[in-house]
Amino acid sequence: MKKRVLIIYYSFTQQTRILIKNFAAGIEEKGAEVVLERLEPVQPYEFPFKTDLRLASVMVRTFLRRRAEIHEISQACYGEWDRIVLAGPTWSYHPSGPVLDFLARFGESVCRGKEVSVFISCRSYWRLHYWSLRIALKRFGSFPTAPIIYVHPIKEPYRLIGLILQLRGKMIRRENSWFRKHYPGYGHNKSQLEDAYQKGLSVGAEITSKSEDAD
Ligand SMILES: Cc1cc2nc3c(=O)[nH]c(=O)nc-3n(C[C@H](O)[C@H](O)[C@H](O)COP(=O)(O)O)c2cc1C
Repeated sequence: MKKRVLIIYYSFTQQTRILIKNFAAGIEEKGAEVVLERLEPVQPYEFPFKTDLRLASVMVRTFLRRRAEIHEISQACYGEWDRIVLAGPTWSYHPSGPVLDFLARFGESVCRGKEVSVFISCRSYWRLHYWSLRIALKRFGSFPTAPIIYVHPIKEPYRLIGLILQLRGKMIRRENSWFRKHYPGYGHNKSQLEDAYQKGLSVGAEITSKSEDAD
C-alpha cells in the first residue's frame, strides 16, 4: 500500500505554494502519495493592499490572533495519513488568519493521533509561530516532527522594505536601481526551492522506509 501524505497549506503571495510544490515532488519521487489541501478564506485578502492602513489592519488582527474564516475543507482530509504537513506564512509573528481558523475548527479532528510537520515560509521571524502551532498540535494529541522553515534569503533592512513594497504593489522594477542591487527579488530563491525538493525526498524516504520496516 502506498504511504500517504496530506499537505494542508495557505499561501498569500505564493511563496509557501512554490516551496510546497517542490517539497511534494520530492515526496512523490520516493513513491508516496501526496494530497494537497489549500485553505481558502471566505473573504480573500486584497493583493496588493490598496492602503498602508489596510495592510496594518491585517497585521494587527493577526497579531491579536484573530481568525480569518475559511471554506469547509474537503472530506478527504479526515482520512488516514502517514504524515500531515501544515504549511503557511508567518504573519505578525503568528500563523496567518486562515491557518488559525483551520486549527480552531478542523485541526483536532484532522490531526489527532497523526505525525504533523509544521512548514513555514517567512521573512525572518518564525519561532513564536512554530511554538504556538506545536503547542496546539500536542493539545490535539498529534505528534509534531522537526519543523521545516524557510526565511527570505536577503539582509535587513532590504528584506523588510522589500516585503512592504511587495505587499503594497510598489516594488521598484528597475533592475539597475540602487535598491534592487541589494534586493534581487521578493521571496525565496532557487536554492531554497531545490532544498525543499531535497527535504521532500528525505521525508518521502523516511515514510516509505517505515512501511518496509513494518512489512
Ligand atoms: C500581513 C503580513 C504580515 C507578515 N508578518 C510577518 C512577520 O511577523 N514575520 C515574518 O518573518 N514575516 C512576516 N510576513 C512575511 C511573510 O511571512 C512572507 O512574505 C512569506 O514568505 C509569505 O508566504 P506566502 O507567499 O505563502 O503567503 C508577513 C506577511 C504579511 C502579508
